[in-house]
Amino acid sequence: MIKKAVQYISSRVPFKPQAAIILGSGLGELADRIENPIIINYSEIEGFPVSTAPGHRGRFVFGELNGKKVVCMQGRFHYYEGWSMEQIVLPVRVMRALGAEYLFVTNAAGGINTSFVPGDIMLICDHINLMGTNPLIGKNDDSLGVRFPDMSFAYSPEIRELCLDCAARAGVEVKQGVYIGVTGPSYETPAEIRAFRTLGADAVGMSTVPEIIAASHMRMKVIAFSLITNMAAGILKQPLTEEEVLETGRRRGREMQRLITEVIGEIDA
Ligand code: HPA
Repeated sequence: MIKKAVQYISSRVPFKPQAAIILGSGLGELADRIENPIIINYSEIEGFPVSTAPGHRGRFVFGELNGKKVVCMQGRFHYYEGWSMEQIVLPVRVMRALGAEYLFVTNAAGGINTSFVPGDIMLICDHINLMGTNPLIGKNDDSLGVRFPDMSFAYSPEIRELCLDCAARAGVEVKQGVYIGVTGPSYETPAEIRAFRTLGADAVGMSTVPEIIAASHMRMKVIAFSLITNMAAGILKQPLTEEEVLETGRRRGREMQRLITEVIGEIDA
């Protein structure tokens, strides 16, 4: 499946992407900044899932961003949509096979850390996989990576440093923390949020963990950001709505795009 997708994409895209970018809920606008775009809809690629989540489109955008060749996923796949873990990470594997060594990931997340406010950008330092599964379950493909990949440095310390420098220079305030990945699609209960805080999580969301695991397996250099779109359940004594999540994404997503664009310019790919 990876080979077939690479073959099709290579027939349409005359360059090798240096960095891959996955855009989260309501954060797809970054793709509009890509110069000389070549768009490939997932539906054109045999065997590819097509995303159904609100705020998501389903396509790759290839082109240039701040002087670097990139491929951007405008629309990702979630476990709650019913896709298998293997389907969820297929595009990451394809982007790697196309040549991308760096992976930038964004998501919308609920703030668990009570010092956060909606609209905060959190640089992910580490994650807790509470999805109850793992995209690497099954026979290992040794051509992709090892059976038991190390996750100690999954969120590249060097690029995180670089990112914090870029943020300081660009005047973008960035928080840091641990992301806990759950399946959804129901939002969490207040008791779950209290439990997650005890476990050491700062933000909660329904994506990212599978893609990061697959990328680490393939030894990609990863950097990931959560946009805190809402405070997690039980903190503000008001119900969570999807509209709130998408609205904060629209409002603060631009700042995150600016930061990612800066960091991409600095990577030595
Ligand atoms: N919980 C889980 N996923 C989310 C949330 C949340 O509060 N906000 C945005 N994605």
